[in-house]
Amino acid sequence: MTAAPHLFQPLKLRGLETRNRVVISPMCQYSAHEGHIDDWHLVHLGRFAIGGAGIVFTEATAVQKRGRITHGCPGLWADSQIPGHALVAQFALRNGAIPAIQLGHAGRKGGMQRPWFGNGPLDQTDTKRGDMPWTPVDHPPYQSPRIGPSHTNCQKPRLTNLSMIMRLLRVAPSPLAIRLPRFTALMVISCIAFFLPSLINAPIDMAVICLDV
Ligand SMILES: Cc1cc2nc3c(=O)[nH]c(=O)nc-3n(C[C@H](O)[C@H](O)[C@H](O)COP(=O)(O)O)c2cc1C
Repeated sequence: MTAAPHLFQPLKLRGLETRNRVVISPMCQYSAHEGHIDDWHLVHLGRFAIGGAGIVFTEATAVQKRGRITHGCPGLWADSQIPGHALVAQFALRNGAIPAIQLGHAGRKGGMQRPWFGNGPLDQTDTKRGDMPWTPVDHPPYQSPRIGPSHTNCQKPRLTNLSMIMRLLRVAPSPLAIRLPRFTALMVISCIAFFLPSLINAPIDMAVICLDV
């Protein structure tokens, strides 16, 4: 009998074994409500698990409210956000896929409109809709090579200081370690790197770190 093509053969990654090498990459849906995901995300991600993918990644999920790109980005800064993620992870597992989460901090790329509202920096039009603007952050120790706004249509970030970074590191580690157990793989994408050390204790088998400057 001919062997299955390489793509469809299982892959062992430390403690993980995927049924094949098909990985669904993170895809922002801009459809969360105050960081909470809902049935949209369950259907969007669940269909890839049903379809047979080996690993299914969630979209960039903010560890801090101001680390969102838009008002529609998922978050994990509040306990009430956990059940939605757990449901997606459990569904993927039950259907043979490895559930993987992408944690992110948009840094200076944050504070933007959802694409269908213009894809520009949040402004007064958004305020009228209830989407209050916020100022994105960048910070000196790991500051991005290109100082200032990420793109011409992004906001000018506020530089954070060391004490703000230390404050985030103090609050982040244990809640994150508790919140992640249902996901077995993790990708971190960060326009600023300051929250990375907080993930060291997370119970995960695979981690991919990308710095998105
Ligand atoms: C609608 C959409 C949303 C995306 N959202 C994310 C995201 O949340 N995080 C991320 O790292 N990449 C994101 N990407 C990038 C994809 O994950 C992927 O890396 C990129 O599309 C390149 O893969 P491709 O050549 O197969 O399209 C997004 C891409 C698309 C088209």
